[in-house]
Amino acid sequence: MKIVVVGAQWGDEGKGKMVDWMADSAEIVVRFSGGANAGHTVIADGKTYKLHLVPSGIVAPGKVAVLGSGMVIDPAALFDELDQLEKDGVNWKGRVWVSDRAHLVLPTYKALDQEMETQSRVPIGTTGRGIGITYALKAHRDGVRVGDLFVDSCWDHLRPAEKEFLAPFRERLHPLVIDLVAFMRQNSQKNILFEGAQGVLLDLDYGTYPFVSSGYSAAGGASLGGGVGPRHLDKVFGVFKAYSTRVGNGPFPTEFKEGSVLGERLRLVGQEYGVTTGRPRRTGYLDLVALRSACWTNSLDGLIVTKMDVYDDFDEIQVCTAYRIRGRLVEDFPGTVADLETAEPVIRSFPGWKTPLGSVRRWEDLPQKARDYLSFIEEYSQTPISVVSVGPDRDQTLVRKSPWTRS
Ligand code: GDP
Ligand code: IMO
Ligand code: MG
Repeated sequence: MKIVVVGAQWGDEGKGKMVDWMADSAEIVVRFSGGANAGHTVIADGKTYKLHLVPSGIVAPGKVAVLGSGMVIDPAALFDELDQLEKDGVNWKGRVWVSDRAHLVLPTYKALDQEMETQSRVPIGTTGRGIGITYALKAHRDGVRVGDLFVDSCWDHLRPAEKEFLAPFRERLHPLVIDLVAFMRQNSQKNILFEGAQGVLLDLDYGTYPFVSSGYSAAGGASLGGGVGPRHLDKVFGVFKAYSTRVGNGPFPTEFKEGSVLGERLRLVGQEYGVTTGRPRRTGYLDLVALRSACWTNSLDGLIVTKMDVYDDFDEIQVCTAYRIRGRLVEDFPGTVADLETAEPVIRSFPGWKTPLGSVRRWEDLPQKARDYLSFIEEYSQTPISVVSVGPDRDQTLVRKSPWTRS
């Protein structure tokens, strides 16, 4: 079976935790998009792993981790990460592969990324990891692909400074490089997990453009960046938090107002600080208009909700069920920032459950008020909630229906 996992909001939904957890039943995990702008957290056996480029399946012993064609890879960051994994006792050798079609991030791209941000008409709040420039050069057909390092005619075209930077990584990368298309065809009978980066609302086409990243973080990217045709994918799951966060600039209709006590409390209790940049994440309540749109654009078979425990002490929990835009009631996520910036959320409130959820392991044992909240999300989004996460650890997970079930 082949399962895609995407972030259904603005990133940081807990994809790392859920991919590590789902990898238990997979043999291969392929990251299909993004670069070192991502920060995926996996907590296993009391240790915390912060992954930026290496798929989150690497922590589970024996799983194969593939960096897919849709990724943009800074080789220095990749080998730093692999060295750190080794220090942390994760034996990755023989189970990390890199697509020959993935693009490389060079040092000049990172500098240019930061420089362009300062001069941009609309600063995005980029992580400054060279992501936008690398994808732009890819589209301009002037990028450097991993496979190019091993083709003399391509290597010869590189500038002297590029060769100097890449030479040591050329040797280290060589044994890891695969033809991803051939690899996927040969492994087509295995259970494979496709790990997304960022989130649907940061997708280049379906996100809040221009306040997006530059890769395909929506489920369609799994096929393009993962080396399989779309009909080879069996199921798609969207991970979302019980509330909303966003890092960087851009519209956020359900954001708590500056200085809001609830917003600050969510940030503190939910530890909402970026894994890659350490920036405080902006916080807000759940936006069901955006979530339902994500269910459609990604054909989600099921939802995975994380961070339910963060709401344990809240008296009241709000969700947004529609927007009012210039007097009009809107239930479809608008395609323009202008509309999103004027959107006033229509709110529905739920009473808090005021009970710690961290040790709950069965749906039936969730407090009725927590189940009511989740049932409303299912009803509104017309998508079942398959898994509920009640804490950062692997075992703090309730399964209603295993994602690996065929039907
Ligand atoms: P990703 O980018 O989607 O992989 O998410 P991040 O790793 O950037 O951020 C998610 C954070 O939430 C990490 O610190 C996780 O350890 C943590 N986390 C994941 N699931 C839960 C949960 O159910 N409850 C709590 N309290 N933390 C969680
Ligand atoms: P994970 O995979 C949250 C945001 C940045 C910025 C915008 C563009 O951990 O969920 P870029 O560096 O791509 O030019 O930044 O996108 N961003 C993320 N926000 N989680 C991420 O990844 C993100 N990757 C990029 O903050 O607003
Ligand atoms: Mg993250």
